[in-house]
Amino acid sequence: MSREVPERLLAALRDARHVCVLTGAGVSAESGVPTFREAQEGLWSKYRAEDLATPEAFLADPALIWRWYRWRRGVVGNVEPNPGHRAIARLAGVVPRLTLVTQNVDGLHRRAGSRDVIELHGNLFEDRCFADGTLHAGDDGLDVPTCPDCGGHLRPGVVWFGEAVPEPALDASCAAAADCDVFLSVGTSSLVYPAAGLAKQNGAVVAEINPNPTSQAAGFDFALAGNSGIVLPELVDWLAL
Ligand code: OAD
Repeated sequence: MSREVPERLLAALRDARHVCVLTGAGVSAESGVPTFREAQEGLWSKYRAEDLATPEAFLADPALIWRWYRWRRGVVGNVEPNPGHRAIARLAGVVPRLTLVTQNVDGLHRRAGSRDVIELHGNLFEDRCFADGTLHAGDDGLDVPTCPDCGGHLRPGVVWFGEAVPEPALDASCAAAADCDVFLSVGTSSLVYPAAGLAKQNGAVVAEINPNPTSQAAGFDFALAGNSGIVLPELVDWLAL
């Protein structure tokens, strides 16, 4: 078996008590979910995701935002977890402790078998009341679904630009980043905070896995320039030997 994963990184993983993995849209790219900063396809190509994923855009035209999110639910509902997602689920069985933090809202980590995933930006398949913040499963099929409790508009249960990450998710990920011995940053452009600030909190060994090394990579211990669906299974195969 050829090996692209540096021996020093494997050694750090073999010695680790606690591994923290942060993932972004790139880990789902090989499943066919477009990354956030790619141009959108078809109907939605005239919009930038950054202009639709805001509370202001929802208030201006909730039906438009719901059409976009139903389209996104359709895209994600038709894809499967890829070898990168499955390798992270497998890694949890190989190291003593693993915390998985994701910026993705697609639920593919859970579908790949990962447990206790910290979803920093929420979940695409949940609805949240715009007025009172309560979470509800699925939507009722109206153009703009309504809250069964207060009758107000429901919105997708995700974190939008300009909104804060829910405190419990943020606290749990900061605690894991501070406690871990090895931090893997996978498929994220490392541009959006607070996720981008999680690595390098405590002197942990930090490795990035991304075919396009990010601006933070120079400060990391390792930058593995490859697709997560190739590099992660290889890394876990070597560890499990
Ligand atoms: P981005 O779309 O910003 O970045 C995706 C990263 O994945 C890029 O650096 C790509 O080079 C990399 N990539 C592409 N294919 C890959 C592959 N096969 N394997 C590994 N990496 C690959 O996505 P995020 O960093 O997740 O926030 O973006 C973070 C947040 O910005 C999103 O959660 C979203 C967005 O604004 C909100 O919606 C609040």
